[in-house]
Amino acid sequence: MTGPLSGLRINIDSAGLKRRVDELALISEAPAPVVTRVLFSEADMRGREYVRTAAREAGLALREDAVGNIFARWEGSEPGLPAVGSGSHTDAIPNAGRYDGVVGVLGAFESLAALKRAGFKPRRSLEVVMFTAEEPTRFGLGCLGSRLMAGTISVERARALRDPEGRTLDDLRAAAGYSGSLESVRLPKGYYHSFVELHIEQGPILEERKVPIGIVEHIAGPSSYRVTLHGEGGHAGAVLMKVRHDAMLAGAEIALAVERAALESGSPDTVGTVGVFRIEPGAVNSVPFRAYLEIDLRDARLDSRAKALADIRGAADRACARRGIRMEFEEINADPPAEGDPRTIAIAEEVCSGLGLRSLRMVSRAYHDSLFMARVSPTTMIFIPCLNGWSHRPEEFATTEHIASGAEVLAHTMAQLAV
Ligand code: GLV
Ligand code: MN
Ligand code: MN
Repeated sequence: MTGPLSGLRINIDSAGLKRRVDELALISEAPAPVVTRVLFSEADMRGREYVRTAAREAGLALREDAVGNIFARWEGSEPGLPAVGSGSHTDAIPNAGRYDGVVGVLGAFESLAALKRAGFKPRRSLEVVMFTAEEPTRFGLGCLGSRLMAGTISVERARALRDPEGRTLDDLRAAAGYSGSLESVRLPKGYYHSFVELHIEQGPILEERKVPIGIVEHIAGPSSYRVTLHGEGGHAGAVLMKVRHDAMLAGAEIALAVERAALESGSPDTVGTVGVFRIEPGAVNSVPFRAYLEIDLRDARLDSRAKALADIRGAADRACARRGIRMEFEEINADPPAEGDPRTIAIAEEVCSGLGLRSLRMVSRAYHDSLFMARVSPTTMIFIPCLNGWSHRPEEFATTEHIASGAEVLAHTMAQLAV
């Protein structure tokens, strides 16, 4: 490998790319600067339309599958060959920022547009995917589109998903105009020759070290759990403390156990979060009779994640036994980590050195659709720095220069992979 293909001059339209990122950010369920686009909400539907228009403007041909993954393709001279893929997501959790996922979709469109302007002629087709529901907000399960594409979730399980209002995936996708069979979402074997996702780092390392590009060698394994606690309600003035079965207090003990288990797992990479905690009836003068928690637990290593989970389960069992609470503890997902593909990583690295951009091999602590693309294709990710490592908050920020560098590296890497 020799870095960028000789003679290939890429000019990323950084102002145009920034304008698009800013325009998409205005399509939100919440006022700016907050971005919220939950799967199949009205904002997500308008965001999808924005993505289609941007893909067409980049000269790409569109198709959509039955779960709403959007594919934007530039046919190569040998269209029967496995394609080189890229892409990310444009859904956004409540109270998010504008760069998570979006940079990897709009940035990849600009990478392909720049390759076209440069006169590049791909042998393999180049394809950008906007994955449906990378974020778990609606169904509690992240990476729904890429899981179905990779076949790592069964169609039966996907059909059984319910949102907090009890609506099914089939109801919601039908309302959004997606009617094909979910079975058809799975990619044929060998569909992608390679896959490279561009994303903000969502951590502080690149910024701290003043390195413009990260190349992902390993994606940490996410897991999440749903805990429902059934206690006994009653009047907050009349039920004496000694006879209470307060579901919220059992939940509070579990939340603290999650923190403790992550801190004491033996691995600095274990992280545990209770990001959803609802109680019923939710009245100040009523003892909570039910609590509902969602736990997010991750690690780059499965053994320390398993130890943390066992500690959480033990603490939850003890708290519920002591408080007379019935507990349902369900696994939502427990995914293994993914390894980046050494050849794809080496190509991206050589592209960076050829462009005079420093790069760093990294672990992604966040999950991405690449976690699932890595199961069916050689995969890596290109990270760019973001301010203070902030993400999943409105203050998320990446400079136009860093975004453009990421798109340039992506363009050259895809070109290398496509010849
Ligand atoms: C993705 O958004 C994640 O939670 O890592
Ligand atoms: Mn995210
Ligand atoms: Mn993301």
